[in-house]
Amino acid sequence: MLKVDQLSYTYRDGTKALNQISFSIPDHSKVAILGPNGSGKSTLFLHFNGIYLPQEGSVEVLGIPVNKKTEIDLKTRVGLVFQDPDDQVFSSTLWEDVAFGPENMGYSQEEIDRRVEKALKSVDMWDYRHKAPYHLSYGQKKRAAIAGILAMDCEIIMLDEPVAYLDPQGQDQLFSLLDELYQQGMSILIATHDVNLACEWADYIILMKDGQILGQGGTELLVQENLVNQARLRLPIVAKLFQKLNKDIDALPTTLEEAASQINQWVK
Ligand SMILES: Nc1ncnc2c1ncn2[C@@H]1O[C@H](COP(=O)(O)OP(=O)(O)O)[C@@H](O)[C@H]1O
Ligand SMILES: [Mg+2]
Repeated sequence: MLKVDQLSYTYRDGTKALNQISFSIPDHSKVAILGPNGSGKSTLFLHFNGIYLPQEGSVEVLGIPVNKKTEIDLKTRVGLVFQDPDDQVFSSTLWEDVAFGPENMGYSQEEIDRRVEKALKSVDMWDYRHKAPYHLSYGQKKRAAIAGILAMDCEIIMLDEPVAYLDPQGQDQLFSLLDELYQQGMSILIATHDVNLACEWADYIILMKDGQILGQGGTELLVQENLVNQARLRLPIVAKLFQKLNKDIDALPTTLEEAASQINQWVK
């Protein structure tokens, strides 16, 4: 799904945001990119749908190299949900907002209507279609942004810091929607510094710091204390609990489920 090879990116003011990054991710994955603020997560995301083009090295998305020729095509295949939903919704009604993508893709009015209706229904926002986006709650704005991506039939959806601004129920709603989209065949990438969320949700982890990759692999990376400290993150709470219990175990648990089944074995 993604292949990044020796990618570097320097902003105009001289900040080196990405420094020779390489990794690849299999098809149909749930990926969490973790790292402290300023580690380059957002800059990396902006390469995956051609908003930024590689300055050095290369990026391939769904087998397509990211370059000037493919950037427009990529924007219709890979959707990005911004961290701040207010940066993303700008039309006077939700309906118009979601129609923006399909309109730009040159579809007939009938096809646009069909896509907007389907997208708004699948994020459970159809009843709000006449509302002004800026009157929606943060959770609703995030779902609206996702509808905009679904209306374009994107194959990959990226969410930058998806739980920022959301209350716990809003987070749960968002993640059950993401799980549904994953079941339907989409690949999903999130950028976050929430290790608990990443452990529970992701099947592939990329750890970043200072524009470089510290590690990549399964969620077991996130219970390697050295690595987690290096990335200025914290161990997941279930792993911390098991450290405190100080029992002799092979590996710290990454999820509540794993922790519960270990505890059940002890109390049997
Ligand atoms: N538009 C910009 N101009 C200059 N520097 C930037 C810009 N955007 C981000 N940076 C810098 O690039 C680095 C990586 O930022 P970013 O990709 O936003 O990291 P993250 O998303 O992990 O917080 C940081 O040092 C940040 O200050
Ligand atoms: Mg960011």
